[in-house]
Amino acid sequence: MPSQQKPLNLAKELQQKFPAEVLSTLREVGKVASQMGVTAYAVGGFVRDLLLGTPTLDIDIVVEGNGIALAQKLSQIWQVDLTVHERFLTATLHWRLKEPKSASTPAPTHACALSRLDIATARKERYPNPAALPEVEPASIFDDLWRRDFTINAMAICLDPKRFGELVDPTGGFNDLRQGVIRVLHKRSFVDDPTRIFRAVRYEQRFDFEIERKTLQLIRHARNESLLTKLSRDRIKHELWRILQERDPTKPMRRLSELRILPVIAPELCVTKKRLEWMRRTNEWLNWFAEKFPEKPLEREWALLLPLLPTVEAVNSFSQRYQLGESERECGLALLKALKRRTPKRPSNWVRWLNPLPLEAALVLAAKRSSPNDLLWQRYFLEWRWTRPDITGEDLKACGIAGRAISVGLQAALAVKLDEGADAHKQLEVALRRAQPYRTLRR
Ligand code: CTP
Repeated sequence: MPSQQKPLNLAKELQQKFPAEVLSTLREVGKVASQMGVTAYAVGGFVRDLLLGTPTLDIDIVVEGNGIALAQKLSQIWQVDLTVHERFLTATLHWRLKEPKSASTPAPTHACALSRLDIATARKERYPNPAALPEVEPASIFDDLWRRDFTINAMAICLDPKRFGELVDPTGGFNDLRQGVIRVLHKRSFVDDPTRIFRAVRYEQRFDFEIERKTLQLIRHARNESLLTKLSRDRIKHELWRILQERDPTKPMRRLSELRILPVIAPELCVTKKRLEWMRRTNEWLNWFAEKFPEKPLEREWALLLPLLPTVEAVNSFSQRYQLGESERECGLALLKALKRRTPKRPSNWVRWLNPLPLEAALVLAAKRSSPNDLLWQRYFLEWRWTRPDITGEDLKACGIAGRAISVGLQAALAVKLDEGADAHKQLEVALRRAQPYRTLRR
């Protein structure tokens, strides 16, 4: 982090930390804004992460003046898609390149590292009721920064060509970032927006910072006043899911439990040291699996919560509270059932035990019984789960097998392939032998 001078200029940091095309995009935003008689700033998490030395391409622009008009202009110049939300005074540019309109308007090449750019009109917010969504009206960059959640998120970098890189820090965010402190900007912050309680915990644990003493008191107060219950379940779920998307979600979960916030939003969750350790290992297994099979989607957040849901009642109640789908609920119940069995020896029994489970449940089970270095478990996910017999139902039908006997035969073929490495010929022989007694049974 650079040492503080006044006014601090971050142009050099921007140049060092970002690819040239991103930097020129930012410069162009500033230039076009200035030509339109308005001033553009990069704000929020972008500034925070740059100062922390972990730059992000998730860039939020705030404009003192009409942000939507600037976004429209840039979308024309760069020939990129635009979505406008008039009510919130915001717009988003999407870098799905359009066909150039004519040979004389080439598609942009300078901004290809970005996939989107959010542009908003600087605004003030008014909260008509606690925890309600705010009413917004245009304002100065200072008003816009003062309406934010924490000092470390309330900084801006000026993009105007004459002031490019200048840090705007009215709330002391730079100092708090240096000291590792999460601090709200005013006493009503959590009353206006109780989701900030989750955000405070998320940032504190992500950066190894500390929630400042008064801010912590305000959190406790908000909890005692049951402010969280004023939030819709959707908004709570959204925040909880964002926490579960953190690199190590066990840290914020432990902290939420310590602050006695979890019992308010999800009394079903049982947070013990042992269960958090299970969650940590689930995270490791999910990471391991995602690396091996990037094309297979996982419901990571739900998988991470399963170690904290100890009973059928807990799974049912949590699923209902947050209106999860039937498949999630069933995944939780299937896991509880499968947990009752011991880890088998033969590969065919592994497959019988685990293949009926959704992947998420199988990975949570793996985390309960092993670490991701466990070669046997790895082999299950890499190989056994996907192994199919080398013969098909058609082969069995051709030998006169029908009905349920076919699936019995195929299962036997798979078992002998997995356990003994039998070839197709042997698999057919075993399948026919096993299917035989079922031939006379009715379907
Ligand atoms: N913000 C706020 N209050 C909220 C949510 C957001 O003041 N309840 C402001 C903060 O200034 C924040 C910015 O809006 O920096 C953008 O919000 P978001 O995208 O949620 O967070 P990021 O700062 O980008 O952080 P993260 O790394 O968690 O995405």
